[in-house]
Amino acid sequence: MGFEEMWADLLPLGRDAATGGYRRFAWTPPELECRAWFADEARRRGLDVEHDANGNMIAWWRPEGARGPAVLTGSHLDSVPGGGAFDGPLGVVSAFAAIDLLRDRGVRPRRPVGVAAFAEEEGARFGVACLGSRLLTGTIDPARARALTDADGRTFADVLHHAGLDPEAIGPDDGLLDRVGCFVELHVEQGRALAGPVGVASAIVPHGRWRFDFAGEGNHAGTTGLADRRDPMLPFAGMVLAAREAAERNGTVATVGKVRVTPNGVNAIASAVTGWLDARGPDDAAVRRTVADVDAAARAAARPHGVAVELAEESYTGIVGFDLDLRDRLARTLGGVPVLPTGAGHDAGILSARVPTAMLFVRNPTGVSHAPAEHADTADCLAGVAALAAVLDDLTAG
Ligand code: GLV
Ligand code: MN
Ligand code: MN
Ligand code: MN
Repeated sequence: MGFEEMWADLLPLGRDAATGGYRRFAWTPPELECRAWFADEARRRGLDVEHDANGNMIAWWRPEGARGPAVLTGSHLDSVPGGGAFDGPLGVVSAFAAIDLLRDRGVRPRRPVGVAAFAEEEGARFGVACLGSRLLTGTIDPARARALTDADGRTFADVLHHAGLDPEAIGPDDGLLDRVGCFVELHVEQGRALAGPVGVASAIVPHGRWRFDFAGEGNHAGTTGLADRRDPMLPFAGMVLAAREAAERNGTVATVGKVRVTPNGVNAIASAVTGWLDARGPDDAAVRRTVADVDAAARAAARPHGVAVELAEESYTGIVGFDLDLRDRLARTLGGVPVLPTGAGHDAGILSARVPTAMLFVRNPTGVSHAPAEHADTADCLAGVAALAAVLDDLTAG
């Protein structure tokens, strides 16, 4: 199976025919199909699939004589709602293709190579981005993770149980991490910053997610006078506008891309609204200021309407600087490719707290991501595979 055949097999899974967007939420049927695809590709290559306690999968290539800490690569298979085809899967498909390339050339790695598919990277189902890698590295409390709920109110614990995993067993796994010498994640670039086909990541900017709960009073849209309303939509609207203003003021970006309205009826004043804020910026202080500004604006907008506001931080990741030695080694191996930071979060950012970590980016000519127009040309994808193979060859040689 070459890169293009693997890609073609994966392409229809979870794709909405009308929009071309993907919906591969963790442990929903399309994502389970992606997991089955992963297991098939591993089996085809004679790789052993390890299912860790946190829902992550790793396909191991352990050639004879390979020993010591492994080189881990891969990415994730889940998607945002209406996402593109490349964010996540490109890193997994490229990893299998890079192994094929090394085998075709008769390369015998002296270290094991693992292909990872991390669970719930986008946090699209349970709200916390990189949930699988956070659990693995101990950056989220397992009790908190178990209690996370999806849009239907199902807990993460319940979903794990139905997937055949023990919810009580989730959490940090030093045994697995001790077997990993370094992690290299290949990913589609998510802006237009990359001029050549392939680049190396320098850093991930600080980013996080915050939930604003507005509690008002449900009532009839026709019979309730304006003076008698406690309408949570009004401060919610204020919060959305405040996010834009706060981002401009603080030199950050801020997005309200998700809202839940209860009960969500045309002719009913909402009783409650929940809005999610995604904020990212050059440093912690700027991001924190942005969130504080939005919070203050939301409260000021809620007060005259008798609406209560609660703010909860769902996840936060400070600046991630990738391992300098590893980054330089990649750049050297690839002959001076561009080195660039990113505003997107990745499992690599979480893993980097525990193992030397680096990232390879593949050019995205549209600059669009988390949307159907996300794209990478096949020639660039193949350049990415070649680059990853060269990096794996180098890192497993000694
Ligand atoms: C994940 O891709 C994120 O950056 O939100
Ligand atoms: Mn993404
Ligand atoms: Mn991704
Ligand atoms: Mn991501």
